[in-house]
Amino acid sequence: MQLKAIFAALAAAQYATAQELMRFGCSQLTIDRIDPLVNPDSLPSPHLHQVIGGNSFNVSMTPGKLDPPAASSCTSCTYSEDFSNYWTANVYFRARNGSFKRVPQVANLGLGVQGGMTVYYIRGYQASAKVTAFPPGFRMLVGDPANKEASKVPSGLCYRCEANMQQSPFGGAPCTGSDTKYFPKAACGGGWRVTVTFPSCWDGKNTDSPDHKSHIAYPASGTFESGGSCPKTHPVKIPQVMYEIMFDTRQFNNKADWPADGSQPFHWSTGDNTGYGIHGDYLFGWKGDALQKAMDTKCSGDNCKALQRQADTKAVACTKGQTAREDIGTEKWLSVLPGQNSMPM
Ligand SMILES: *[C@@H]1O[C@H](CO)[C@@H](O)[C@H](O)[C@H]1NC(C)=O
Ligand SMILES: *[C@@H]1O[C@H](CO)[C@@H](O)[C@H](O)[C@H]1NC(C)=O
Repeated sequence: MQLKAIFAALAAAQYATAQELMRFGCSQLTIDRIDPLVNPDSLPSPHLHQVIGGNSFNVSMTPGKLDPPAASSCTSCTYSEDFSNYWTANVYFRARNGSFKRVPQVANLGLGVQGGMTVYYIRGYQASAKVTAFPPGFRMLVGDPANKEASKVPSGLCYRCEANMQQSPFGGAPCTGSDTKYFPKAACGGGWRVTVTFPSCWDGKNTDSPDHKSHIAYPASGTFESGGSCPKTHPVKIPQVMYEIMFDTRQFNNKADWPADGSQPFHWSTGDNTGYGIHGDYLFGWKGDALQKAMDTKCSGDNCKALQRQADTKAVACTKGQTAREDIGTEKWLSVLPGQNSMPM
């Protein structure tokens, strides 16, 4: 490890300790055009997703009918009692000639698994506050794939253009500094770090809601990190779930391949080429009271005593084939994005 890399890792670790946060890697489970939260029973769903977690992930995951810890035989997450599913859209590069190729994902600094995402469960700074783990069947959505306005991107969702793969200099806490709500405009030497943070308050009753958002809320004042309290409508403090996804854009850094008019070459798999459509989906699936134990014992990092951890190789071995079989532009260039008949913008 180079010195600079060690400093970047140290800064990240300090941030982790201050917040008593669980941070662990999950490798890619599948890339599939299904969405059991927003489009259950629809095969295929409108756009493509990259998914991590338990291998019971399926077109439909009705609470009471499918219990992820019981229905899964493996998880791609390093904590082996975590059969939750976590997913986002995929990122594509559109070359000057109009063809698309999928941007690969790589593991975050300091984590062993390949591709996939880094998952955080954050207790916040208020050490004494009770943080209630999600109940079985809980699910939620943050962000809006159809959003076209910067002001409507929730705080805690953003892009960081990394200068190099060592993430050095370290850019500080997520969505601070030069992080943006829109796709990075430069060719980034270390790809992108995309952050998706969920609200941290719950109504205490509903495991879901028609828009998959109304049962959760942001703190009434301040921020979760600063110990802000939950609003009366949503009084229960839940772990703040956060995803970090490293998109390795380096093979697309040749500006001669970018659109001649200077427009943004990167697109979400929804067709969005602004970045404002950033969103993430969460479906709880921890076994028994494992997540509550992790919160109560202030678990930190990816090797916490209260939880069972599997070898990285076992997490990486947990994969699932596509349900909606189609070419997703990993090797070959595509003329249209999966599920998109034409370019929407
Ligand atoms: C997914 O759902 C289908 C239909 O409900 C079922 O036949 C199949 O076994 C499920 N797959 C997995 C991996 O659970
Ligand atoms: C489009 O451009 C890419 C990048 O330069 C190239 O690799 C690909 O072969 C081209 N596709 C077609 C159909 O010309």
